[in-house]
Amino acid sequence: MADLQGLKVAKDYHVNVPFANQNGFYLKGSNSLEWGMKRHLANIFNPKSGNTVMFAFDHGYFMGSTAGLERLDLLLPKLAPYVDCFMGTRGAIRTCCPPELTNAIALRVTSGSSMLQDDLSHEVVAVDIEDSIRMNADCMAVQTFIGADGQMSSLDNLNQVINAGMRYSVPTLGVCAVGKDMERTDRFFKLATRIIAEMGCQIVKTYNCDKFEEVVAACPVPIVVAGGKKLAEADALTLAYEVIQKGARGVDMGRNIFQSEHPVEMAMAVNKVVHEGFTDKEAYEFYLDSING
Ligand code: 5RP
Repeated sequence: MADLQGLKVAKDYHVNVPFANQNGFYLKGSNSLEWGMKRHLANIFNPKSGNTVMFAFDHGYFMGSTAGLERLDLLLPKLAPYVDCFMGTRGAIRTCCPPELTNAIALRVTSGSSMLQDDLSHEVVAVDIEDSIRMNADCMAVQTFIGADGQMSSLDNLNQVINAGMRYSVPTLGVCAVGKDMERTDRFFKLATRIIAEMGCQIVKTYNCDKFEEVVAACPVPIVVAGGKKLAEADALTLAYEVIQKGARGVDMGRNIFQSEHPVEMAMAVNKVVHEGFTDKEAYEFYLDSING
């Protein structure tokens, strides 16, 4: 075991120096991957902007039906033109996502917890690689609990999924979980995102925090940022703008889109920030113009 006493606190993140091993493919850390992996990643991350708008609607896997997600069959086709990737469970996607929609698919493959429990950190791999391939998943999402009771089994889940994904060239999205008692500091996110990336994930999902640019700099694969609890639309657009400015390659936003009174217009505005370089203020004006016709 490494001697923790001798560890020096990391301090030089070279946040303004581009990632050095990127010749040949536009996504960070993907240079040495096989063609099929790159193809899936190119389905998720727009090759022009290098970024992605993921729409997360996997909440039902531990929360049941959540406000705004009552009728996925009605919602998904409306949002499809404005998001690059749908993130959901196989049950939701198979039943409610028309196969002719060409959005990328981020398939939630772990489960085992529900909001009725205090400790949500124990999950299993619920969807096997064969079903992920059958669904043409572009990546498999694994909930990963660093520093929580279920850390060891969740890292085991993550590694099982990565190993299967490497066999068949399906990327893995490591979702950095934040339990209610877990700190949301840059110290925690630097630790957790780096552990998840070092397991071999091709994408890491995490949250915004202070010094987020250092979290990005120290993570050798693209980071996408969760939206979190519903905010006012202007604030959610500021969140998206800030993280893109600090190096995130996209957002994986759920409640801030589907709980908006105007989810389609909100998705359109987020898209402007992520792909077209709109500032948060420009995007909010665009949102207001869109809802006012
Ligand atoms: C839960 C998830 C959710 O997909 C994620 O939290 C995104 O949704 P929201 O923007 O509503 O937070 O990965 O672990």
